[in-house]
Amino acid sequence: MIRSTIICFLIFIAAITTNAQNKIINPGAIWPDDRGNHVQAHGGGIIKIKDTYYWYGEERAQGLDPKFRYVSCYSSKDLTNWKFKGDVVKMSDPENLGDGWILERPKVYYNKSTRKYVMYFHLDTRNYQYARVGIAVSDKPDGNYTFVKSFRPLDHQSRDIGQFIDDDGTAYLIFEDRALGFHIVKLADDYMSVAKEMSLVHMPLEGGAVVHYNGLYYAIGSSLTGWDPNPNKYATATSLEGPWSEFKDIAPPETKTYHSQSTMMLKVVGTKTTTVIFMADQWKPNAQWDSRYLWMPLEIGDGKLWLNEPKPWSIDVKTGEHKFVADTNK
Ligand code: GAL
Repeated sequence: MIRSTIICFLIFIAAITTNAQNKIINPGAIWPDDRGNHVQAHGGGIIKIKDTYYWYGEERAQGLDPKFRYVSCYSSKDLTNWKFKGDVVKMSDPENLGDGWILERPKVYYNKSTRKYVMYFHLDTRNYQYARVGIAVSDKPDGNYTFVKSFRPLDHQSRDIGQFIDDDGTAYLIFEDRALGFHIVKLADDYMSVAKEMSLVHMPLEGGAVVHYNGLYYAIGSSLTGWDPNPNKYATATSLEGPWSEFKDIAPPETKTYHSQSTMMLKVVGTKTTTVIFMADQWKPNAQWDSRYLWMPLEIGDGKLWLNEPKPWSIDVKTGEHKFVADTNK
């Protein structure tokens, strides 16, 4: 009797654990996926295909084979609960880059005319001197992606990359070019190369991201301090070709962007309102698998952009509304 009661109890616990749903987004906390594992999508990016969001990022779980670099993919309908779709890239050194070669900040674009999913990423040697973008393609959002080539966009060095898709669907790449600043470039029609420079913004920023909100472009990025956080900054322009305003802090500078580094801004346009989400990484260089995500709705409009102190929140992707809530995931 006691034994069967215990077994029933364990089955009950297993059932509620498996069905556990995240109700909130809790910045800086462990973010459990559908398997209960912390999401591994660092330096990531998100695209929406019909009503599904896909989150791609650096897979940095413990115990991965050091010969390979991995990009993970997760899917979600609500931006809060993420289903692990697998490592859509498991790549060995594609160009004789040597030990410690680097694949970082993957971003995926869907090309409607070729029907290909085109992934861009930062490809580099251990000492970050190769400074190129790599491209891998797939017929499906959740892979697998096959490596195609690497290049320097418009012959410039390219390290951190960012992704921006404008409201009209035009696809842009943002890339960091050391002392020169960062570039915003338009992709070619098939997304397999870079077509044209929109802006070279003379500000040394990485982790670059752009959002188009109420007729203004907002660009953000972090200073070049490696894994260490710093005060991220933003500027605005009425056109992607500039001119860009002066750069200002997005949060109290002493918080170093609440210990995070930008990777993307995601605009959620709903039936009632629009929320722009600041997506950032809280890196743990000595325990990268445990690096956290700081996602927060931004205060944005009329040329101002501000990141409030992180706290738990929830979003309704249908209406576009967000609200701050008690931490009910616990
Ligand atoms: C950061 C960059 C990361 C990674 C790191 C290595 O500045 O944003 O993606 O490259 O440097 O130190």
